[in-house]
Amino acid sequence: MTFEIDAVRAQFPALSLTDEGRRRIYLDNPAGTQVPRRVADAVARCLLETNANLGGYFATTVAAQQVVDAAHAAMADFLGAATPEEIIIGANMTTLTYHMSRTIGRDFRPGDEIVVTRMDHEGNVSPWLQLAEDRGLTVRFLPFDATSWQIEPAALQDVLTERTRLVALNYASNLTGSINRVKELTGIAKRAGALVYIDAVQFAPHGPVDVRDIGCDFLACSAYKFFGPHMGMLWGRHDVIDALQPYKCRCSSNDLPERFELGTPQIELMAGLSATVGYFEELGARTDASGSRREKIAAAYRASIAYENGLATQLIDGIRDIPGLTIHGITDASRIAERVPTVSFTVEGIRPETIARQLAEEGIFVWSGHNYAWEIVHQLGIPAEEGVVRIGIAHYNTAGEIDETVEAVRRIVAMLRQVR
Ligand SMILES: Cc1ncc(COP(=O)(O)O)c(C=O)c1O
Repeated sequence: MTFEIDAVRAQFPALSLTDEGRRRIYLDNPAGTQVPRRVADAVARCLLETNANLGGYFATTVAAQQVVDAAHAAMADFLGAATPEEIIIGANMTTLTYHMSRTIGRDFRPGDEIVVTRMDHEGNVSPWLQLAEDRGLTVRFLPFDATSWQIEPAALQDVLTERTRLVALNYASNLTGSINRVKELTGIAKRAGALVYIDAVQFAPHGPVDVRDIGCDFLACSAYKFFGPHMGMLWGRHDVIDALQPYKCRCSSNDLPERFELGTPQIELMAGLSATVGYFEELGARTDASGSRREKIAAAYRASIAYENGLATQLIDGIRDIPGLTIHGITDASRIAERVPTVSFTVEGIRPETIARQLAEEGIFVWSGHNYAWEIVHQLGIPAEEGVVRIGIAHYNTAGEIDETVEAVRRIVAMLRQVR
């Protein structure tokens, strides 16, 4: 399958911007992606043409409600939800998770147990740890396997007891890039009677999510990681969220999902969210996919996964033999499908920040630090104040950009090792 990279790139105005004449290479994608023009246009149009609060009878409030409904419907298709009522939209994954954790925890009792992993971003750890403190819960930590880079089913089995109420799981790591076998892990946790809360923030930009196939109870993601505006979405299984009573204003709606969406929503960003899903749909249609919106979205992912995996392999192969450099994640090309194209590394004796600063000087945008993968750096014994260099590929990057980045990393590391 050919991936029309030029047609893709043409949709993202930011990709052709320069700084004092120098091109930009965006490899900061795990922290946030660029947006297609249609997303920015939809946000602007909503603000300029249909800006009103919800619940009235005049033209703009009716149009605003349509924007809100369309965004929930689009995300339901995107995640494979049974109904748009299962889609809760809010500020970001972390805020949604703090809110939902408080709601879920209302009927947890002292001595009940929850499981958090050493592979998750803090957004799916801290809310649960603090809930445990508030409610007297016992926390069990689930490590990842240092060889497979994934959570192993046997390790999950080991931490489950008859008092386990909830398992908070990572779909794909924002540091190592590895993808967990979430369906299998969810099955194990569900058989033990636990709720399963999945963080798909880093998976969603790179692979299709199917909440009903996974069988979990909750799944969160963030639109700004997959070419959309700065907002988060939480899917909750209908019967599970319908039984929950969130902290909310007494007079606000008790319907789903309004019960969980506090105050005035980010209506213009919801317009952008629908346009983001529309972008995936159109990308799928370009590959000749027909059928439903969800089928086209699936086709878009099929095309982008194949393309991204090529770039990830190119990057890994290009830097893995640099003396003193360690990639923290799957490097075996035969396992490329078990990771997203986020590649983190450290170099003996050189601070990650120094490498990131040098790359920034050359217009190559990458992140350094622990990136909130606080548990991962601790399990790996990496000093948290240093962390890693993280290069995160998106489907709009090119082989030429990866070549330039590999060359820059090799040159910068060689130079820094000399001046050490
Ligand atoms: C895996 C993962 N989970 C959660 C988050 C937090 O997302 P948000 O900024 O939407 O709260 C991030 C952000 O980088 C992440 O990478």
